[in-house]
Amino acid sequence: MMDLYYGADYYPEHWPENRWEVDAELMENCKINIVRVGEFAWAKLEPAEGEYNFDWLDKAIDILSKHDINVVIGTPTAAPPKWLVDKHPEILMRDEKGHPRGFGTRRHYCYNSPVYQKYTKEIVKKMAEHFKGQSSIVAWQIDNEFGCHDTTRCYCENCLQKFRKWLKEKYGDIDELNKAWGTIFWSQIYRSFEEIILPAYTVCDSQDHSNPHNPGLMLDFYRFSSDSVVKYQKLQIDEIKKYSLVPITHNLMGHFDQIDYFDLSKDLDFVSWDNYPNNQWNKASYQLTAMAHDLMRGIKNKNFWVMEEQSGPCGWSVMGDTPKPGQIRLWAYQAIAHGAEAILYFRWRACTFGTEEYWYGILDHDGIPRRRYYEVQQVGRELSKLSDLILDSRVVAQIAIVKSYDNLWSHELQPHNSNFDYNGLIAQYYKGLIANNVSVDMISEECSFDKYKVVFMPAFNLMTDEIQSKVEEYVKNGGVLVITFRSGTRNWDNSITTKTLPGYFKKISGIEVEEFDSLNQGRKVIINGIDSECSASIWCDILKTSEAETLATYGSDYYKGKSAITVNNFGKGRVYYIGCDLDNEFMKKLLYIIISDAGIRTNIPKSVKGVETVLKKKDTERYLMILNHNSYPVNINVGGKYKELITGDIIDGSVYLLPFGVAILRD
Ligand code: GAL
Repeated sequence: MMDLYYGADYYPEHWPENRWEVDAELMENCKINIVRVGEFAWAKLEPAEGEYNFDWLDKAIDILSKHDINVVIGTPTAAPPKWLVDKHPEILMRDEKGHPRGFGTRRHYCYNSPVYQKYTKEIVKKMAEHFKGQSSIVAWQIDNEFGCHDTTRCYCENCLQKFRKWLKEKYGDIDELNKAWGTIFWSQIYRSFEEIILPAYTVCDSQDHSNPHNPGLMLDFYRFSSDSVVKYQKLQIDEIKKYSLVPITHNLMGHFDQIDYFDLSKDLDFVSWDNYPNNQWNKASYQLTAMAHDLMRGIKNKNFWVMEEQSGPCGWSVMGDTPKPGQIRLWAYQAIAHGAEAILYFRWRACTFGTEEYWYGILDHDGIPRRRYYEVQQVGRELSKLSDLILDSRVVAQIAIVKSYDNLWSHELQPHNSNFDYNGLIAQYYKGLIANNVSVDMISEECSFDKYKVVFMPAFNLMTDEIQSKVEEYVKNGGVLVITFRSGTRNWDNSITTKTLPGYFKKISGIEVEEFDSLNQGRKVIINGIDSECSASIWCDILKTSEAETLATYGSDYYKGKSAITVNNFGKGRVYYIGCDLDNEFMKKLLYIIISDAGIRTNIPKSVKGVETVLKKKDTERYLMILNHNSYPVNINVGGKYKELITGDIIDGSVYLLPFGVAILRD
């Protein structure tokens, strides 16, 4: 059986050649068997147009392979070199005001630039040709973090032309477009596709919380921009595939919201992503990290890699917290619990120059192994014994949450209430579910719902007749569907439905939204039900129940006593409608009622704060991963006798976990 890939992101070009051997040896000593290289090295691989120099990389790869270290090779297109930008400044991306986004950092290119596409093809072809015989190269990474630094949407002349073409292919006839966007509003009728604009800087731009452009145009522009990235990536994939059969990936960014990751990943052999739980800009809760892992697994319904995993304090100008003893190990196991089959730490060694001088890796600037290195070594040793259990294992999930990028963009453009956030709502449901010790698949509306006992479609506002039929079939056949306020209120083109709300979901939910109330300036409305009380602070749908049963009512304001949460039997299944936002405790309790009613068992008898459990399956064998995200030890009642697979200990009734500790239990 092959070992699981375990490694680091390595930049040999940042260090003198006589250090490479030392690095490879240190890597081997902590069981590192893979590194990623090359993804920003264009200027060194092609120092001047048409002059290629791959010798240094060949040499580094040779040294690594002598130590049994494999390689993921990155195409270097995220950093176009100076000679190229000087010769062709037209490749630069442009912002909403038409300003070029210049040389000096990275990602300064437009996906739709024919010139940039030509140079991209050339460098990718040269690399694919050159490295095709190198057996230690086990994967390709295309570019680096598409869309990072707000680089998905460009407003240049190329994009304008391509947008018009994209719209022509979509609508065929300009009248269809006018109808879909409702351009009669404010005299925006277009007479031909050649008249279409990009939603660039215009009047009203400064008004708080509003994007003044036509919502149909905006959503199509977001879709077009995402599609442009998908196409640009495909161009590189096609080039590599001419020479190599090695699997191809791209490093995604978890909750990043500008690219439809379901679309982007269709052309990839596997998904990988970059996980930084705690850096200069962001301190993610363990639940948000878990959800990102689950989304990355859901994108292709397949296990994934972590291509960059945090291994030190990190930031550009200031640093986030240093990972505490045990946290690097815990993060690796958390990734594995949710479906990671490879972990590469970013980065092997902190760099002494450049924008990321403060982004620490496994080694500090001086290159001397210390605590973080030894923790990575410990994980390496442990994982090498667990490979068989981890590779091709599956997360056992009977619940799915549907995430839609089209819906996300629609909500971002017009969030209904200034405190509403679609991703935030999904995350709240996700957190409530995993707090009940069950696992969740994050899926798209295109996936089959059949294998799930419960499917959540929070605030799924954009709808089509097809999706409506699909959910009706699912519920009719016994599925449980959970929808919320704002579900079913719009058509797929982002116009508002004339159907009585909840629009496309009215029939199956057995209710009517009589009125709604968007809560502003800190207003709160009491919710009573399921033997609890909480308050809504964003939104209240005031429900009239035709067939549904009421589970909670409003306890204040002029709609006191009216229904807030309902459940309706439809065919063999049920539909829950949650008409308001809830606090976390109420949510957790409500979700427990919903899942236990659907016959779903929780992983452990009683949840413990800060402790996550993931049930996994490998062939016919099941095992439970328990992760303590607390900085203090915990004792967990697991209700049975198990073998702990890292230590080999026998566990009877309860398991003791150290701060940031991990256990893997098998019956
Ligand atoms: C990632 C990126 C890496 C590096 C790292 C630290 O987003 O892929 O190249 O920049 O962040 O900033």
